Amino acid sequence: MKGIILAGGTGTRLLPLTAVTSKQLLPVYDRPMIFYPLNTLIKAGITDILIIVAPDYSGHFLNLLGSMFRKFGINLSFVVQKAPRGLAEAFILAEDFLDNEPSVLILGDNIFEDDFTEAIKTFEQGGRIFAKEVSDPERFGVVEFDADGKVLSIEEKPAAPKSRYAIPGIYIFDGNIVEEAKNLQPSERGELEITDLHRKYLEKGMLDVRVIEGAYFDTGTHESLFEASTYAREHDFKNRFDPRINEAIQEFNKEFKERVSLKK
Ligand code: TTP
Repeated sequence: MKGIILAGGTGTRLLPLTAVTSKQLLPVYDRPMIFYPLNTLIKAGITDILIIVAPDYSGHFLNLLGSMFRKFGINLSFVVQKAPRGLAEAFILAEDFLDNEPSVLILGDNIFEDDFTEAIKTFEQGGRIFAKEVSDPERFGVVEFDADGKVLSIEEKPAAPKSRYAIPGIYIFDGNIVEEAKNLQPSERGELEITDLHRKYLEKGMLDVRVIEGAYFDTGTHESLFEASTYAREHDFKNRFDPRINEAIQEFNKEFKERVSLKK
């Protein structure tokens, strides 16, 4: 199982913060946002991770993460997405990296409290996505269930949502996803939509949707970014990170300070 973090986009809702660096490098309490999706993947045992970035701040990602995890046997690769053509483009950009293997795609601005280890380790084929009850489903892809928990429909940012179950930004797919993504047509807003991929798998009877209960933040707005920082601080997220991440950050800080003192 391989991992992909989608950390491109324009982050216009977070201006002027995103005129300084990429959204996924902005702080969520005590560390850049990208460490949260990295943690979700690394905690679940994934050691091969592709990070998709936008051209403007690609160097910022490399400065921070370029050699941070080498000694832990965690391989990070990077690819530049030239323009934000939609979430589903991630699979096309990751074609060589995936080499027909299954993968977990996580959005670089999505923060999860849940542990996905079991959902990832038991995955065999098709697609597995998640549903989380939220107060503002119209901001998300929305999944509608019948009384037995069977999925009836999936809609992208509907004006009149059929349920309060949002599809959060973590998706597990088998190796066929690349071909499926290549066959997509852009939507009316000009993007390759991940919900179109979900629907394709749903129509084939190959989509499993699991409800998650833990806290979930999509940190795309000032308000949700602030809420995520507060939650991470109050719920001691920093001590719940995979120990390898905390160690890697400590070593990075130590080397950084040494470099600064050498310059003096
Ligand atoms: P969004 O929050 O939908 O888009 P955005 O980050 O460009 O923000 P805004 O709407 O404020 O301009 O994207 C969700 C995540 O996916 C986020 O981490 C950015 C990433 N993304 C890409 O990497 N490439 C893309 O083509 C798109 C659409 C998003």
